[in-house]
Amino acid sequence: MAVTRSLTDDLAANLGEARARTLAVVTPYDDAVLRRQHDPLMSPLVWDLAHVANYEDLWLVRALGGDATQSGLDDVYDAFKQPRRERERLPLMTLAEARDYGDRVRARALELLHRADLSPDGPDPLLREGFVHTMVVQHEHQHIETLLAAVQLLPFHEGHRLEGLARPRPSTAPDGEVLVPAGPFEMGTDDPLAYDNERPRHTVTLGAYWIDAAPVTNGQYQAFIEAGGYDDPRWWGADGWAWRQEADLSTPQFWQRDGAGWARLRFGHVEAVPADEPVQHVCWHEADAYARWAGKRLPTEAEWEKAARFDPVTGTSGRWPWGDVSAVPELANLAHASLAHPGHLGPSPVGAYPLGTSPLGCHQMVGDVWEWTATDFGPHPGFAAFPYDEYSAVFHGAAYKVLRGGSWATHPSAARATFRNWDLPIRRQIFAGFRCARDANLPGPVC
Ligand SMILES: [Fe+2]
Repeated sequence: MAVTRSLTDDLAANLGEARARTLAVVTPYDDAVLRRQHDPLMSPLVWDLAHVANYEDLWLVRALGGDATQSGLDDVYDAFKQPRRERERLPLMTLAEARDYGDRVRARALELLHRADLSPDGPDPLLREGFVHTMVVQHEHQHIETLLAAVQLLPFHEGHRLEGLARPRPSTAPDGEVLVPAGPFEMGTDDPLAYDNERPRHTVTLGAYWIDAAPVTNGQYQAFIEAGGYDDPRWWGADGWAWRQEADLSTPQFWQRDGAGWARLRFGHVEAVPADEPVQHVCWHEADAYARWAGKRLPTEAEWEKAARFDPVTGTSGRWPWGDVSAVPELANLAHASLAHPGHLGPSPVGAYPLGTSPLGCHQMVGDVWEWTATDFGPHPGFAAFPYDEYSAVFHGAAYKVLRGGSWATHPSAARATFRNWDLPIRRQIFAGFRCARDANLPGPVC
């Protein structure tokens, strides 16, 4: 007799996979490392572990009718009440305590899951089609990426070197730009399991534009550095130039001079900067300055999304650049479950995923590096906050820039072509790069 795997089983397996990945990141470290604040931008690592357990208790236990698994923790592990830079001063759990708390929450969450009505027309909108369980799984995977950004900031003397898998080598490197024709496309999604900020699907009409076929590489970015790009205010916006001065920016984060070339620190390794990989650890201001120097600009969020998923033959927009089939390692550099953790630990060279190209011909729109866009984070027309304002709505406004596409550290569950991320334009510790665009009716770049 054929055994049909139920949605309940899938959700339980997804929760288990997320926790296994979280523990793989944190368990190599002792409590002294885990409870220390290594950088004001990032939490002590153990805070994230206890926070994901507390979030799960809120949404998969209490929101579904259970009592708190352990009282007195909500304030300590609430991301809004506790600024990251102050979390070291909190009464943090040890690793053993956080693991035990996570196990106890998980046992109760699974108990409730097995009794839940997940039908699409069930009485509780949180449970329909497994929405809230999918949300909690994505949340944990998003924190794993945050944990990896914190690990990358560990002092080198900690001696914690991580080994990533070998990255694929492309046979040809994509070059140049793709012309995206003028016209409408479907942006966003009506997928009930997507986050509120991706919904609803709506029509956006854009003029024609050119967009880079691949993210800007380290080699291209080096040319900007060598041309004095960091020292020429013509290329920078007013805020960007002020920040460049104040923060004394002169290279991407983690780069250092190595003779005539460049080296970088990556998860405890000092290595030559590979010219053919997408640049990462640049802030929005650096991306904006590079684009202006190159005679281009950053794409708007809508331009990015159209280039990533619009098929001009069918007139439809796919879930992924390559269509609607699930992400697998041959299609994109993401934190795939099938890869040994933690995957590649960096972007792959441009052109390494020819099978994952978008219908318009853009490479690596999903995976490798988050891509900064020109757009401030705001709601799609018809947006409705669900299930809580603090996921997206409180961040709407000019303070945050939208990033799209996911990075090598992003799990496929949080990287579809409608997924929206946002951050302050000065942030560099995230795994972010960019590609450039320009209006189709303007002359080509001069350099
Ligand atoms: Fe969180």
